[in-house]
Amino acid sequence: MRLECIECGSKFKIDERFYTCPKCGGLLEVEFEPSELKRKLDLKRLKTETPSVWKYNAFMPILDKTKIVSLHEGGTPLYHCDNLAKEIGVRELYVKCEGANPTGSFKDRGMTVGVTKALEFGVKTVACASTGNTSASLAAYAAKAGLKCLVLLPSKKVALGKLAQTMMYGAKIIPIKGNFDEALSLVTKICEERKDIYLLNSVNPFRPQGQKTIGFEIADQLGWEVPDRIVVPMGNCANIWAIYKGFFEFDTVGLTKGIPMMTGIQAEGSMPIVDAIKRGLKKFVPVRKPETIATAIRIGNPVNGPKAIRAIRNSKGTAESVTDKEIIAAQKMLARLEGIGVEPASASTVAGLKKLVGMGVIDRNEKVVCVTTGNLLKDPEEAIQVSEKLLEVEAKYDEIIKHLG
Ligand code: F0G
Repeated sequence: MRLECIECGSKFKIDERFYTCPKCGGLLEVEFEPSELKRKLDLKRLKTETPSVWKYNAFMPILDKTKIVSLHEGGTPLYHCDNLAKEIGVRELYVKCEGANPTGSFKDRGMTVGVTKALEFGVKTVACASTGNTSASLAAYAAKAGLKCLVLLPSKKVALGKLAQTMMYGAKIIPIKGNFDEALSLVTKICEERKDIYLLNSVNPFRPQGQKTIGFEIADQLGWEVPDRIVVPMGNCANIWAIYKGFFEFDTVGLTKGIPMMTGIQAEGSMPIVDAIKRGLKKFVPVRKPETIATAIRIGNPVNGPKAIRAIRNSKGTAESVTDKEIIAAQKMLARLEGIGVEPASASTVAGLKKLVGMGVIDRNEKVVCVTTGNLLKDPEEAIQVSEKLLEVEAKYDEIIKHLG
């Protein structure tokens, strides 16, 4: 196991506490020797145990297993969605429901690894900038680990459920008069100068190692098969890379064959990566004032953009944008056709799938998995705002009958 820069290829020891490459500033990734990894695999356990992040511990960059901080993350349902498949017009459609994680989003998969690394490094405080889910998750895992947690949030732009969680788990929260991108650059500066504070945003190379397990679990739950396509929302852009990496590593060690076409979705008001993919750019152009109802992915300058672009291009995938209206319609479809409640950012996957099938970019014969990243209850205000208005009536039988329609 080692850290490797995705830009200049420099290699570093796995116990180095770097966020980015000290030589060129590029993003870091954890790499394994395939032969060493194959030796470590417990095939019987892999083929029999039910999915969870730590089922795949051979792929995790942990040096001291006694330090693992877990709230039983992963093992989320992979729903077979026939009603939705018919509505959209694809052969086989699944939804990987990450809202079923302990704090209601996929972030828990990364935090169980990230906070364990924080304990290995011996720090006392962990920190992040967040649109809400990262902070809720980090605050919970920090609480479990007995660490202090510092959070910078874009003031008034974090969904209520996420804010309530972060407050209740006891984090020190500083709302800033600025957006996520500004919050991230400030907290990064704090963590570079204050070595006692450990940064756990997804630029941290260890967090995506936990998130890889979304890919592992999908393959596992499909009977060690790889779907044709994975559709993922993109915000700060670590998750699409992590899932790609998961399939890549399974392929490398021979557990599965091939890599799905990674398909990233962004909201129209914040779509720097979609723009780069469509225009064939080498580098993306940041969006200065991102805006969307999907506040989780209201990000204009995604730190992991270069990783997302690689994942999409290497897997022959694509990227597409959707409007807030399309997101809301998809959120209702998921809830009303399948009983799956998701927050707006997660619904962008179904909106994107519908759009790409309509455009003929996605073939109707494909086997597709949409990754819904966060629970409906994360953003109750949005759910109420976009649903039919309620009408109060007198507490009388006849009045109620009149309103049954
Ligand atoms: N979906 C949800 C529900 C999210 O909360 C996020 C990111 C994403 C998708 C995008 O994932 O950043 O890996 O591309 N939320 C971060 C946060 C930014 O602070 O909670 P990504």
